[in-house]
Amino acid sequence: MLIDGTAYRSIWLGEDGVSIDIIDQRKLPWSFQIVSLKTSDDAGRAICEMMVRGAGLIGATAGYGMFLAALECSEAKNDNSFDDAFASHGEKLKSARPTAVNLAWAVNRQLSEVSMISGAEAKVAKAKEVAILIADEDAEWCRKIGQHGLPLIREIFEAKGGEEPVNILTHCNAGWLAFVDYGSATSPIYAAHDAGIPVHVWVDETRPRNQGSRLTAWELGKHGVPHHVIVDNAGGHLMQHGMVDLLITGTDRTTCTGDVANKIGTYLKALAAKDNSVPFYVALPSSTFDWNASDGLNDIPIEERSGEEINRIGGAPDPAFSSEPEVEVTVVAEGSPVANYAFDVTPGHLVTGLITERGVCSATEAGIKELFPEK
Ligand code: MRU
Repeated sequence: MLIDGTAYRSIWLGEDGVSIDIIDQRKLPWSFQIVSLKTSDDAGRAICEMMVRGAGLIGATAGYGMFLAALECSEAKNDNSFDDAFASHGEKLKSARPTAVNLAWAVNRQLSEVSMISGAEAKVAKAKEVAILIADEDAEWCRKIGQHGLPLIREIFEAKGGEEPVNILTHCNAGWLAFVDYGSATSPIYAAHDAGIPVHVWVDETRPRNQGSRLTAWELGKHGVPHHVIVDNAGGHLMQHGMVDLLITGTDRTTCTGDVANKIGTYLKALAAKDNSVPFYVALPSSTFDWNASDGLNDIPIEERSGEEINRIGGAPDPAFSSEPEVEVTVVAEGSPVANYAFDVTPGHLVTGLITERGVCSATEAGIKELFPEK
């Protein structure tokens, strides 16, 4: 996507061909910093510390991280010792964050493809090829999600008389920053905007890390999409007053029965949407399905993150007080314990439909099977 006229992806192979460049998302929107990852441990740290985040980008970083791991294994004496060392890099990477299934999916794909090749040099070349493929596929799948989601927005636009903007609520950041390009939830929004359909987005700020107010708002602003940032608890009120036509969120892990795990607070939005008969769609590339999970509440690990994310909040200071791009302040009474659950599960029966790269289906086992019969 474009940033001030320059096309960026959220991750790319460095110019030297042996490092990976990322945008440090912890610094956005007040500072745009590109960071170079040189080892698989760098990639694991970037995921764990959320320099990169969002299901698709976590997967792409893991894919590239395994290429860096392959470079680190290239001195191995034979194929077996290469594969053993490569697998232990993979296990380490997988432990960086628990909820987004794209992480394990990308690592496992690399392990299986590279194990079929003989010779260290050829294994490294394979790992590079697979990493690039994972990133390119992610971008293409997200582009297609936009094409499949566009008719849903167009239909609402026409049902409203063809003049009023379509009001879409989204939670967290399921934009191009959360993937390699386009985003999942934002892809139909960008497609509609680019097709001349007026859209307006309600952006949940998404405490505690504020991915909505920091990242989604920045992304939409750069693309010229009209939006308002709202506090996380405003959505229900807006829905009660007919101010939301449609919700679209992303997901970090989707069961084969249509339950979705997404950023904490998504479930409450889905409940409010149901109560107000507002359609609630979830957009995802197929890499976010966990084909082994059938019960979202019991099969999906929910990440618990540091309480510091709740205790402290960062923002741009008044230049009269500090020249730093960002400062942090404490927002919780001293001594009060906090609990930081990062994701929740929305059962499939609250989801109107899943928007995937193959089309839109119901959030049910039968609906998903129809689009992905081979699974
Ligand atoms: O903790 P994050 O910022 O990685 O969480 C991201 C989300 O919850 C997104 O909505 C999700 O990844 C779905 S879209 C990639």
